[in-house]
Amino acid sequence: MDNKVYIFDTTLRDGEQVPGCQLNTIEKIEVAKALEALGVDIIEAGFPISSPGDYNSVVEITKAIKLPIICALTRAVQKDIDVAAEALKYAKRGRIHTGIGTSDFHIFSKLHSNPDEIIERAIAAVKYAKKYVEDVEFYAEDAGRTQNEYLARVVEAVIGAGATVVNIPDTTGYAIPEEFGAKIKYLMEHVKNIDKAIIATHCHNDLGMATANTIAGLMNGARQAEVTINGIGERAGNTSLEEVAMILQCRKDIPLRTDIQSKKIYATSKLVSTLMRMPVQPNKAIVGRNAFAHSSGIHQDGVLKSRENYEIIDPVDVGISQSSIVLTARSGRAALNHRFEVLGIKISKEELDIAYDKFLTIADKKKDVNDEDLLVLLDLEKLSKHKIKLVHLHVLSGTTPLPTAMIQLDVNGEILSGTASGNGPINASFTAVQNILKKKVKLEEFLIQAITRGSDDLGKVHVQIESNGISYYGFSANTDIITASVEAFLDAIEKANGFNFKKADDAENNGTVKKQSLVDIA
Ligand code: KIV
Ligand code: ZN
Repeated sequence: MDNKVYIFDTTLRDGEQVPGCQLNTIEKIEVAKALEALGVDIIEAGFPISSPGDYNSVVEITKAIKLPIICALTRAVQKDIDVAAEALKYAKRGRIHTGIGTSDFHIFSKLHSNPDEIIERAIAAVKYAKKYVEDVEFYAEDAGRTQNEYLARVVEAVIGAGATVVNIPDTTGYAIPEEFGAKIKYLMEHVKNIDKAIIATHCHNDLGMATANTIAGLMNGARQAEVTINGIGERAGNTSLEEVAMILQCRKDIPLRTDIQSKKIYATSKLVSTLMRMPVQPNKAIVGRNAFAHSSGIHQDGVLKSRENYEIIDPVDVGISQSSIVLTARSGRAALNHRFEVLGIKISKEELDIAYDKFLTIADKKKDVNDEDLLVLLDLEKLSKHKIKLVHLHVLSGTTPLPTAMIQLDVNGEILSGTASGNGPINASFTAVQNILKKKVKLEEFLIQAITRGSDDLGKVHVQIESNGISYYGFSANTDIITASVEAFLDAIEKANGFNFKKADDAENNGTVKKQSLVDIA
């Protein structure tokens, strides 16, 4: 049996389902190109029937990507398959990924069906997809909780119908490695036509077992691993690409290999985390900030004597340069640019000049400027291009009277101001902003994070608002968290409003709005 493991990346489909992490088509193409350079074999680009945006992204990715197979997801429904086939029309190598639930939970309480009918529907879906493309992958949703005997019947039937790959997802992340490995072994031994297809693993991380289950599946005969960058995905996420790739590279006793260019792992991880605004946990294996940081004296001493004493992977192999440059207020543009390059970010000379000025402002306030600060700095650069900007914010906080916010905004060049009170300074500020812009939105999520440890640090604020039934995400960072909150709120509102604002000159409930000069409010 061939020892090559095909890497099927679903960052742009299963990964992108995470709330607040949605990417636009241009960002998805950027990620797809990074995945191509990383050496993934298959990119799952989206679920075309789910939205016009997803459909369009699949079309554009097929035009931009040459080497990997581009895959589109469907349910076992003819209309889904028609739309996926249409979205793949420009693909050099296109794959349709269709499937249906096979566990008792799915058969009886989700699909209100029975086991024989599910097999008929699975066969029909594969045959229908085969009319459009040669390469058809079938997923047996919730295979992790499906009886092995029945699963073997399903797998044999879909291979008989022409499936080239059969995906065995642990949809709910319920399996444990021994059991999942045994499931794949059972299929390898009991499905008569198993040699006609590749078996894939697709594990979720609800019990923290996704990578372990994937490796168990591969060691028992699966040859495709479905993964995401940084392990992002629904709930606790999917199996992480970098973990599988580095396990197979580092454990020479496992006779399996991938075509992943491991030196590109770190830059790809940073790109996905930045574009999706999804921070990587500091202790995340392979790509976390602390993955190669040694803090205790004993470990530092051991590593200095020989790196292998405490490191099983050379950080250079995943694209992390060992010789780290500490950025301070004395660093020049070249050092800043080098650090951006290490993070996988290419910026023009003009952008570097702007970023350098902002970098000096932060460096003056902090002992050293770390990678997180730099990524925030680029985000702030984007915010400064907004049509609606916070000019002035003054907040009175405390028990009595009610917290009050006085705000001035620059809306398309016009200065507007307003005041409002609320049950806290942030609530008062958000109400004042809505009054000024004559726009009511629903705040769905609000998260403040300190970037690192010191009290001099930037605070990052993520907000999610709902306007006309659609959710919009906003972000900012500032050493003042109320300012960061208002800027993040404005970032989301600007997106929600498509950058069109009416001028406001009358009073609104729970606060006042008036045209005013800076002098009036200061
Ligand atoms: O987790 C799952 O079962 C899936 C399928 C749609 C492949 O994501
Ligand atoms: Zn999944």
